Amino acid sequence: MASNKSWSFVAVASSAILMTMLAVTARADGALQYDFYNATCPGVEDLVRAELKAKFAADVTLPAALLRLHFHDCFVRGCDASIMLKSHNGTSEQDADPNSTVRGYEAIEDIKAKIEATCPLIVSCADIMAMAARDAVYFSEGPDYQVETGRRDGNVSILEEALQFLPPSDGNVTVLTQFFAVQNLTMKDMVVLSGAHTLGIAHCPSFSKRLYNFTGAGDVDPTMDPAYAKNLATVCSTPADNVASVQPLDPVSPAKFDTGYYQSIYAHQALLQSDAALLEDSLTGAYVQLMNNATYLDTFFADFAVAMINMGRAGVRTGVDGEIRDTCGVYID
Ligand code: HEM
Repeated sequence: MASNKSWSFVAVASSAILMTMLAVTARADGALQYDFYNATCPGVEDLVRAELKAKFAADVTLPAALLRLHFHDCFVRGCDASIMLKSHNGTSEQDADPNSTVRGYEAIEDIKAKIEATCPLIVSCADIMAMAARDAVYFSEGPDYQVETGRRDGNVSILEEALQFLPPSDGNVTVLTQFFAVQNLTMKDMVVLSGAHTLGIAHCPSFSKRLYNFTGAGDVDPTMDPAYAKNLATVCSTPADNVASVQPLDPVSPAKFDTGYYQSIYAHQALLQSDAALLEDSLTGAYVQLMNNATYLDTFFADFAVAMINMGRAGVRTGVDGEIRDTCGVYID
């Protein structure tokens, strides 16, 4: 098992080196780059941030929604805004079960409309989503990292692909790592990006199996703190109902971007099975243990920024590939 110390040194050193490497690579391969819209739509990142500041003030649950939206977009056909596409026949990514509680589509559409008014057909929906995820973290008191841009949008969205590529909430570390590897993301990216669960909520059906029928014998997940399980059961009173009831993913500090999520896991108070699983593996468990120490907040911030940039590169379309459309949420059928 990696010791706390060695993992933290690796984390700090690799974050700094990686940041430099990423910047160089982005320029060298002509793909994503920083400030892609500097000449074609100057000030677009400021506009997105200003719009979101107002939206977040009006709805404190929106940052979590927009962070998740970017993740669910990137894992299916890459970060190409395919999750924004709609279907009359219920066959698009949006219609897939894991996306049933995804929110924030309207916020992206509103911002896109504002941008179109000044920079028509210049800025992709996929880039707006990446900026929005970054600003969601920033306004939740998380790191303020620079986002790469230059993505173009896809025009294909298939329900089955969302089922195939979004990781399951009852996955163990081996399974979760495989889902991330498909996106060229490492096990470290996985444990770090899971830290996004420092924000937001889950609905009872996402975790009630852990309270009522963990192994099929009407039992509680033995890795869960019994007092926490009992408390959750009062909100999710039966295995089947309470579909609309929610619980914070990070009970320590639900609206603040910090290491509270890892502290919850360490205290056996993780809400999702996929979160609790991180403690079971020696490497991911070492990271959880490290982040249980609040003095490593800056390390988490640096790691999270790197991992978000990595995720934002998943399967991107650039150059003449893909399209820039005037509305993100058009119908595909
Ligand atoms: C490791 C694999 C992951 C699994 C299995 C997973 C699963 C889930 C589930 C089941 C929910 C609750 C859905 C509900 O009941 O409404 C959720 C919420 C959320 N997820 Fe993940 N997730 C994972 C990784 C990520 C990543 C990589 C990010 C972002 C970088 C992310 C961001 C979020 C956020 C912010 C929420 C709260 C959404 C809200 O409050 O509306 N998740 N996730």
